[in-house]
Amino acid sequence: MNDVCSSPVVLSAAHLSKAFHQGADAIHVLRDVNLALQAGERVAIVGRSGSGKSTLLHILAGLDSADAGTVLIKGTDMSEADANQRAELRGVHMGFVYQNHHLLPEFNALENVAMPLRIAGADRQAAEQQAAELLTEVGLAQRQSHLPSALSGGERQRVAVARALAGHPAVVLADEPTGNLDSENAKVVMQLLANLSQQHAVAFLVVTHDASMLGEFDRVLLLVDGCLENGGD
Ligand SMILES: Nc1ncnc2c1ncn2[C@@H]1O[C@H](COP(=O)(O)OP(=O)(O)OP(=O)(O)O)[C@@H](O)[C@H]1O
Ligand SMILES: [Mg+2]
Repeated sequence: MNDVCSSPVVLSAAHLSKAFHQGADAIHVLRDVNLALQAGERVAIVGRSGSGKSTLLHILAGLDSADAGTVLIKGTDMSEADANQRAELRGVHMGFVYQNHHLLPEFNALENVAMPLRIAGADRQAAEQQAAELLTEVGLAQRQSHLPSALSGGERQRVAVARALAGHPAVVLADEPTGNLDSENAKVVMQLLANLSQQHAVAFLVVTHDASMLGEFDRVLLLVDGCLENGGD
């Protein structure tokens, strides 16, 4: 377990609710969801398909808005921010890993990892130096110049993990980051996420379907009937 009890809260949500309206029907996806993620903490969210896990991550990232409730990232209220401010908060404080790697196909591994730093204004040399260090940390020092098409599925996802950490985010949000990998690669990527969380003091909030991975997390939360419950051991 991480010793995170005394760590500051980096991402919190209070009383989030969200419904989707489809014709006359309302789908109440989130009902009074509360969450506090501490620096360096590793938290898994599990729940059946359609239970609202991706919706919750999108709201926490400011990519979708809740009907009610607040989201604070490093003390700043995302729910009060406009779209530009939310994008800036996301860029500064958050990293993302998706089920599909979402690497840019025309850029090599080094350039992909350097991209968030370049967008944030770093010069090319500084960005690529940090990117090279991150690629070394994910075991891909020898793959810097490979395009995504010249990497294996597991390697692509490790590049995506390195990219998520570029710029020292407070939180990495990951939606089924191992969903497209075989069990061996899934284990490597999830253990990497867990180790890097400690080394970089980054909080990880990870949606996963894979019960065999839950031991990598400090806490497991279960999304059921729109409510986030402690998943137990
Ligand atoms: N834009 C939308 N309009 C209407 N309904 C939506 C919309 N987006 C999601 N939903 C519904 O909200 C519910 C939650 O969707 P969500 O994608 O958050 O589920 P999930 O837990 O991530 O599922 P999965 O494990 O399959 O990825 C689903 O029933 C879905 O059909
Ligand atoms: Mg989903």
